[in-house]
Formats: sequence, C-alpha cells, structure tokens
Amino acid sequence: MTKRLLLIAHAPSPNLQALKTAVLRGARHPDIADIEVIEKTAFDAVPDDVLAADGLILGTPENLAYMSGALKDFFDRTYYAVIERTEGLPYALYIRAGQNGGDGTKFAVEKIVTGLRWRAVQAPLIMGGPYDLAFEAQCEELGLTMAAGLEAGVF
Ligand SMILES: Cc1cc2nc3c(=O)[nH]c(=O)nc-3n(C[C@H](O)[C@H](O)[C@H](O)COP(=O)(O)O)c2cc1C
Repeated sequence: MTKRLLLIAHAPSPNLQALKTAVLRGARHPDIADIEVIEKTAFDAVPDDVLAADGLILGTPENLAYMSGALKDFFDRTYYAVIERTEGLPYALYIRAGQNGGDGTKFAVEKIVTGLRWRAVQAPLIMGGPYDLAFEAQCEELGLTMAAGLEAGVF
C-alpha cells in the first residue's frame, strides 16, 4: 500500500528553497516505490494533511532563536486537531540557522512534538553558519532516509 510522506517547509530564501528541493529529491528517489511525497508550506498545511501522513519532515529557518513564525503558525493551527490522533508519527526536522544558532528551534519543536508524541527518526539536522553546498547533500540524505525507512516499514 502506498504510504504518504509529508514535507512541511518554510522556505523564505533561495537557500532554503534549495534545501527544500534537495529534501524532495531524496524523498522522490527513483529507487523508492510506493511512497507518495506531498509538499506543503507551513502556512498551507492543515490538520487533514497531518492525519493522512505516514511520516513527516519539518523544515524551518531559525529566526530570533526560535522556529519560524510560519512553522509556529502551523503548530498553533493544527495542534489540538491532531493530538491523540497522530501518536508515534515518525518525523524528521531540519533547521537552517544562518548565524550558527539552531538549538532554540530544536528545543521549541521538540517540546511541541513531545506533547504530540511524535517520534524522531533521527537527530535534528542543524545547518548553521555560512551557507554550504554540503547542506543540500545532507538534506537529500534526510529525504531519502525518511522515504526509504517508510518504504521498508522500519519507522
Ligand atoms: C529576523 C531574523 C532572525 C534571525 N535569527 C537567527 C537566529 O536567532 N539564529 C540564527 O542562527 N540565525 C538567525 N537568522 C538567520 C536565518 O536563520 C537565515 O537567514 C535563514 O535560515 C535563511 O538562510 P540563508 O540566509 O542561507 O538564506 C535570522 C534571520 C532573520 C531574518
């Protein structure tokens, strides 16, 4: 049966767009079958998107030592509609932190998803400091790992 992998990303800069594209490239790797990858912006994602997902990737910049307002808006709009209905949902998180931050966002997202009882499939990917093309390879790997894990049923 086809599984659904949902990417919810806030990508307000060209670099964040490139990271999102890299995640999608990994998640849609041609060797992976039976995974439908759905992409939503943090502002567009609604509770039904989450309820229909078998796995989730969240992407955000760190702004003012916290997740983007867009990702917080997503949680504000969906939290009570999905709590107790998505326990154990496997998720992964990537953070772009232009000034070498990232911990504030990691802490804030982890606090919320702990309440939701979602399950991290790997430690958050924090990409800090000056932009590095290697970030795109890391994002591609994250997308591939998530999709391959869902396909294999290991998450
Ligand atoms: C209002 C604002 C606040 C920011 N605050 C932080 C911060 O607290 N920590 C950090 O590491 N980067 C911070 N940044 C940098 C962003 O994380 C970075 O610009 C964003 O991830 C996009 O990456 P790019 O500049 O490579 O496109 C901030 C950027 C803006 C616009």
